[in-house]
Amino acid sequence: MSLKKYMILFANIFVLFSVFSLTGCRPRVTTEPPPVLSPTEPTQTVQFDPGDFQDPAVCGACHTEIYQAWSGSKHASSWVGELFQPDFQDALTETDGAVGALCGECHAPIAFRTGQLPPFDGSEFDEISRRGISCDFCHTVSEVSEKFNTGNVSAPGPVKRGPRGDTVSPVHETKYSQLHTDAEFCGACHNVRHPESGVLIIDTYDDWLVGPYAAEGVTCQDCHMTPGPGVGKNPGRSSIVGNAKEREHIATHYFVGGSSWQFSRMGSDKHARKAEENLRAAARLDLEGKLTADGLDLTVNVTNVGAGHKIPTGVTYIREMWIEVTVMNDKGETVFRSGHMDAQNNVDPNAVFFRRLFRDKEGNPTSKSWFAQEIGFDRRIPPRGTETETYSIHAAGQTFTATVRLLYRSISQAAVDANFPGQEILVPSVEMAKAEIRF
Ligand code: HEC
Ligand code: HEC
Ligand code: HEC
Ligand code: HEC
Ligand code: HEC
Repeated sequence: MSLKKYMILFANIFVLFSVFSLTGCRPRVTTEPPPVLSPTEPTQTVQFDPGDFQDPAVCGACHTEIYQAWSGSKHASSWVGELFQPDFQDALTETDGAVGALCGECHAPIAFRTGQLPPFDGSEFDEISRRGISCDFCHTVSEVSEKFNTGNVSAPGPVKRGPRGDTVSPVHETKYSQLHTDAEFCGACHNVRHPESGVLIIDTYDDWLVGPYAAEGVTCQDCHMTPGPGVGKNPGRSSIVGNAKEREHIATHYFVGGSSWQFSRMGSDKHARKAEENLRAAARLDLEGKLTADGLDLTVNVTNVGAGHKIPTGVTYIREMWIEVTVMNDKGETVFRSGHMDAQNNVDPNAVFFRRLFRDKEGNPTSKSWFAQEIGFDRRIPPRGTETETYSIHAAGQTFTATVRLLYRSISQAAVDANFPGQEILVPSVEMAKAEIRF
C-alpha cells in the first residue's frame, strides 16, 4: 500500500475513533417488551435517538468488501427501492395511512426506531435512515421476539453482535450471537403477516422451516451469505484494519435472490449476475410426451432443485414465473404455443403461472398485499418438490418437437408501464430452465 493510502487510512481511523467515542447509546424509553404482542402493534416502538445507529460508511472504512457487497444489495435500497416506493404510496393512499408503520418498520427499520417515521414520505429521514437495512441495524439485534413483522429487538451501542466470538476490533466491542447464524434472525422480516386478516403475505421463513433444508440444518445464511448458488466458501479477512483473522469463510453480504433486473438497474452488476445464477440453479424441467388419437399429451415437470423454500418466494404476487411451451410438427409448423409474450411484452394471460394471489374483502383476486383477506391462489414449487402440468394438444402430425422454458420476471410489464408512465422500460425475462423433447 502506498504511503498516501496509509495516510488516508489513518485519517479515516482517527475520524472513526471520534465517531465511536461520541456514540454512547441513550435509550429514551427503556420499556419492557409488551408481554403479548398483538400483530397490529409495532414490535418495537420508538426507543432511540437519531444517531444511535451508526452510519454504514463508518463500518465500511474497515469492513470494505462487506460494505461494497451490502451497498449494492436490496437491503441497502429497501426504502428507496424503485419497486417498493410506488407500491408503498398506493398502500398509504388506499388505507389512509393505516399500513404506513407496518411497511415502514421493516423497509426502514432505523427510521422507524429513531422516530423519523412517520411522516411516511421520508422527509424527516437522515442519511443513515435512507440507507435502509444497514450494518448497525443487523449487528445490534439482541433477540427475535416474533418471527414475523420485524420482530428483531434492537440494542444499539458499542457492542456489535456477530457469528464469531473470537474477534477483537480496534473501535468496537464484539459479542458472539448464535442468533445471527440462525434462520430466525432473517425470519423476523422474511415473514410478513397482515395485521387484521392474519394472512401471511410473505412466508419464506415458515416455508423453509417445514421443508427439508431446515431439517438438515441448512440456513438462509448458508445459501444467501455464501459466494454462489448452494453452500460455498469465501476465504479471507473481514476487515482491512486491525488484527482481523484469516478465515476459511467470511460471510458475504450480497443478499442476492432472483432480482437480476433490478440489480442491473441499480448498477449492481455483480449482484445481477449472481441473481441470474441463483435463478438458473433453482429449477429443473423434465418432459414426457405421448401421442394421442388426435394429437399429443405433453407433460411438464418443474422441480425445485436449488432453493430452500418454494419457488417463487417473497412477493410472489408481484413477481411472474411461468411456463412457455412451443410445439412444432414434423413439417416445422408451430401447432401449439403457451406462455409467450405479446407485442407489448406482456405475458400470455393464459400461461401456467407459479405465484400467490390474494382475495380482498369482496372476494375479488388482488395483488395488493394490504387488501389481503385470504389466499385466493397458491401454486408454487416446494423445496425438492415437483409441480406437474399436462398440456393436451390437438394437432395433426406423426412426430413433434416440444420446447419448454421456465421464465422469471421481477414484475409484470403492465405494472412497470403503470408505475413509470412514458418511460418505456422493457422488463426482461430470465430463463431459469429449458428442455426439449422429440416424439
Ligand atoms: C477500525 C476498523 C473497524 C470499524 C470501523 C468497524 N469494525 Fe467491525 N471489526 C473490525 C475488526 C478488526 C474485527 C475482527 C475481525 C476478525 O478478526 O475476524 C471486527 C469484527 C466485527 C464483527 C464480528 C463480530 C463477531 O465476533 O462475530 C462484526 C459483526 C462487526 N465487526 C461489525 C461492525 C459494524 C456494524 C461496524 C460499524 C458500525 C464496524 N464493525 C466497524 C474492525 C472494524
Ligand atoms: C438451499 C439454498 C437456499 C436456502 C436454504 C434459502 N434460499 Fe432463498 N433462494 C435460493 C435460491 C436458489 C433463490 C433464487 C430462486 C428464487 O428467486 O426463488 C432464492 C431466492 C430468495 C429470495 C428472492 C425471492 C425473489 O423475489 O426473487 C429471498 C427473499 C430469499 N431467497 C430469502 C431466503 C430466506 C429468508 C431463507 C431462510 C428462511 C432462504 N432464502 C433460504 C436458495 C436458498
Ligand atoms: C440483513 C442483516 C445484515 C446486514 C444489513 C449486515 N450484516 Fe453483517 N452479518 C449478518 C449476519 C446474519 C452475519 C453472520 C452470517 C453467518 O453466520 O453466516 C453477518 C456477519 C458479519 C461479519 C462477520 C463476518 C465473518 O464471517 O467473520 C461482519 C464483520 C459483518 N457482518 C459486518 C457487516 C457490515 C460492516 C455491514 C454493513 C456494510 C453488515 N455486516 C451488514 C447480517 C447482516
Ligand atoms: C429488518 C428486516 C430484514 C432482515 C433482518 C433481513 N431482511 Fe432480507 N430483506 C428485507 C427487505 C425489506 C427486503 C426487500 C427490500 C426491497 O427490495 O424493497 C429484503 C430482501 C432480501 C433478499 C432479496 C434479494 C432479491 O434478489 O430480491 C434476500 C435474498 C434477503 N433479503 C435475504 C436475507 C437474509 C439471508 C437475511 C438474514 C441473514 C435477511 N434477509 C434479513 C428485510 C430484512
Ligand atoms: C416484516 C417485513 C416486511 C414488511 C412489514 C413489509 N415488507 Fe415489503 N418486503 C419484505 C421482504 C423480506 C421483501 C423481499 C421479498 C422478495 O424479494 O421477494 C419485500 C419486498 C417488497 C417489495 C418488492 C420490492 C422489490 O424491489 O422487488 C415491495 C413492492 C414491498 N415489499 C412492498 C411492501 C408494502 C407496500 C408493505 C406494507 C403493506 C410491505 N412491503 C411490508 C419485507 C417486508
